[in-house]
Amino acid sequence: MAAQPMTAQSAQAIHVQGLEKAYKKLRALRGVDFDVARGSIFALLGSNGAGKTTVVNILSTLLKPDAGTATVNGFDVAAQGAQVRESISLTGQFAAVDEILTGRENLVLAARLRHLKGAGEIADDLLARFQLTDAAQRRVSTYSGGMRRRLDIAMSLIGNPPVIFLDEPTTGLDPQARLLVWQCVRELAGRGATVLLTTQYLDEAEHLADQIAILHQGRIIVNGTLAELKQLFPPARVEYVEKQPTLEDIFLAITGDDRTGSSDSAARSGRAGG
Ligand SMILES: Nc1ncnc2c1ncn2[C@@H]1O[C@H](COP(=O)(O)OP(=O)(O)OP(=O)(O)O)[C@@H](O)[C@H]1O
Ligand SMILES: [Mg+2]
Repeated sequence: MAAQPMTAQSAQAIHVQGLEKAYKKLRALRGVDFDVARGSIFALLGSNGAGKTTVVNILSTLLKPDAGTATVNGFDVAAQGAQVRESISLTGQFAAVDEILTGRENLVLAARLRHLKGAGEIADDLLARFQLTDAAQRRVSTYSGGMRRRLDIAMSLIGNPPVIFLDEPTTGLDPQARLLVWQCVRELAGRGATVLLTTQYLDEAEHLADQIAILHQGRIIVNGTLAELKQLFPPARVEYVEKQPTLEDIFLAITGDDRTGSSDSAARSGRAGG
C-alpha cells in the first residue's frame, strides 16, 4: 500500500528547492529548484554530466544533498526516507535485474518482496504489457539490452507506486522499443502516477512530457511546458519544404514492425510509406 502524504506540500508530487551537491571539488548541482504536479510527466533534459542522475538519486534517497530541500509524495527526503521509498520506484540508468533468473522469475520475486497477492498474475500481466511473454521462461543473461531494459522498467511498476523515477529509460533502445516505453509512460500518467524521467533526447521530452526542465552544469536553465519553451524562441517562419522521412521513419517502415500500435509509430510508418 502506498504511503499517504502528511505535509502541506502534497499538492505537488515532487518539490525541490535549492538543491546542491558536490563530489569533492566538483559542484554537480548548484541550486536546483522545480515542482512536479501529481499525475504529470516531467522530463529532466540534459547532456552527459549535467547532474540528472544526481537529482534522481537524491530524490530516491540514495544520496544526501549538501544543501536544499526536497519532498516526494509530500515526504521530506532527508527526514522521512522510509516513507519516500514506499512512495516511489526507481529504474536506474543501469539495469538492476537478476541475470540467473528468468524474466518471469524476476517479476514474481519483485512482487513477493512487496508482499503482493497473485505474484504470478502480476508477472504475466507485465510480461504481456512489455511484450516479453515469449521470453518469459528464458534466463535474463540471454536477453538483449532492450529486453533487459523493458524488464527493468516492468519490475519498477510492481505495486503501483505513485511516483516513478526513470533515469534514461530509452537510452540504447531500438525505435520500436522506445515507442513501447513511451506508450507505457503515458499509460502510467493516465492512471494517475507521477513520472519523472531523465533523457538526453529533445524529441523524447517533446513527445512525452507535460513539463520540461533543462539541466545544464548543475542548474535548471529552462523550465516549462513545450508551448512555453517554444515562446522563448522567435516565432517560426512558414516555409514550404518537401518533407523527407527521418532515418527513424525509414527504419520503422522497412522493418515493418509496429509493436506499439501507437499513434506515434503509425504516423511515422505512414509518412515513410509513400
Ligand atoms: N560518485 C561520484 N563521484 C564523483 N563525481 C561524480 C559522481 N557521480 C557523478 N559525478 C560527477 O557529477 C557530475 C554530474 O553527474 P551525473 O551522473 O549526475 O550526470 P548525468 O546528467 O546523469 O550524466 P549522464 O547523462 O552521463 O548520465 C558529472 O560531472 C559526474 O562526473
Ligand atoms: Mg545519468
